[in-house]
Amino acid sequence: MKALVYNGPHLKSVEERPKPTLEQPSDAIIKITKTTICGTDLHILKGDVATCKPGTILGHEGIGIVDSIGVGVTSFKVGEKVIISCISACARCDNCRKGMYSHCLNGGWILGNTINGTQAEFVRIPYADTSLYHIPEHVDEEALVMLSDILPTGFECGVLNGKVQVGATVAIIGAGPIGLAALLTAQFYSPSKIIMVDLDDNRLKISEKFGATTTINSSRNDATKLIMSLTGGLGVDTAIEAVGIPATFKLCADIVAAGGTIANIGVHGCKVDLHLEKLWSQNITIKTRLVDTISIPMLLKTVLAKRINPKLLITHHFKLSQIIEAYDTFGSASKTKALKVIIEA
Ligand SMILES: NC(=O)c1ccc[n+]([C@@H]2O[C@H](COP(=O)([O-])OP(=O)(O)OC[C@H]3O[C@@H](n4cnc5c(N)ncnc54)[C@H](O)[C@@H]3O)[C@@H](O)[C@H]2O)c1
Ligand SMILES: [Zn+2]
Ligand SMILES: [Zn+2]
Repeated sequence: MKALVYNGPHLKSVEERPKPTLEQPSDAIIKITKTTICGTDLHILKGDVATCKPGTILGHEGIGIVDSIGVGVTSFKVGEKVIISCISACARCDNCRKGMYSHCLNGGWILGNTINGTQAEFVRIPYADTSLYHIPEHVDEEALVMLSDILPTGFECGVLNGKVQVGATVAIIGAGPIGLAALLTAQFYSPSKIIMVDLDDNRLKISEKFGATTTINSSRNDATKLIMSLTGGLGVDTAIEAVGIPATFKLCADIVAAGGTIANIGVHGCKVDLHLEKLWSQNITIKTRLVDTISIPMLLKTVLAKRINPKLLITHHFKLSQIIEAYDTFGSASKTKALKVIIEA
């Protein structure tokens, strides 16, 4: 089968690989129909993710068809259509029993990291019963690729952790796919203001279409000053960090209201300062999270009910044979205006 293989920092290639086989009774082999590329794949390619070894097939998102199942799999049958969670969860270990699938002691984020991933014609999914989700008949399947990672991440790490509430004020720093997923799902709670901050005018324009009440280009404006004035000098109830650099975490700390919450989504690769000398008295909460994907069933219902349309995040389409081109397009998003690219296997 064809697969996109990580060959060490800055090296990737499309290679012919053997079709995966069942290794454990709880495994399923999935024939991939659609997959996508995540910012995290770009982090791996930069050499930022030490756990991902050269020779690994990348990808942790996608939908497909069950090709074979281990004897222990009871919830899925060959031929059924499924959503693949980016998190593989045994559902039995102490962390899974707390609902913290991302820290599953036997799995977690392993797909396209420590085991071969979804950017291939077939993938082996461990703990299939609790790492796959059924796709109902007659739905727009393409939109469901966004349920593997992007939507649950924006919702769980941003909106739930940020305690977004009716009538409250929210600022989301970073209008990439994750920030936009937080923007879409924050609206479940009808906040009175959702302010989006980014450096890219195109992404801010998209944010307006997605329901932002105000957008701020922080390369041209003093975002702190503007947000403080938009909130009557109070700051925002929820500040969501969806970039992953010290400057954007600092912005969240500068704009969070007394009693408010900072929800950090961004993956930070270097030291970030926490100014407790200013924040100690502010009654704030700071939350961090690796996505658990426990919200996939609930988000699937909201997509099916047309409460949100994650298809809006999809900007480009490629065949698996064009995946290098897809990486180039996704990797130069400011030029290509790419958000999520769909790759058809
Ligand atoms: N916690 C988790 O489980 C989890 C899961 C998936 C992704 N992530 C992380 O979430 C973050 C966002 O992911 P993404 O795919 O949307 O990334 P992305 O790179 O596509 O988007 C980041 C956005 O931030 C903007 N930006 C960069 N510097 C900025 C600045 N100084 N001020 C304002 N905006 C700025 C960029 O223009 C871009 O639009 C990444 O750090 C990613 O690794 C976390
Ligand atoms: Zn991802
Ligand atoms: Zn577990």
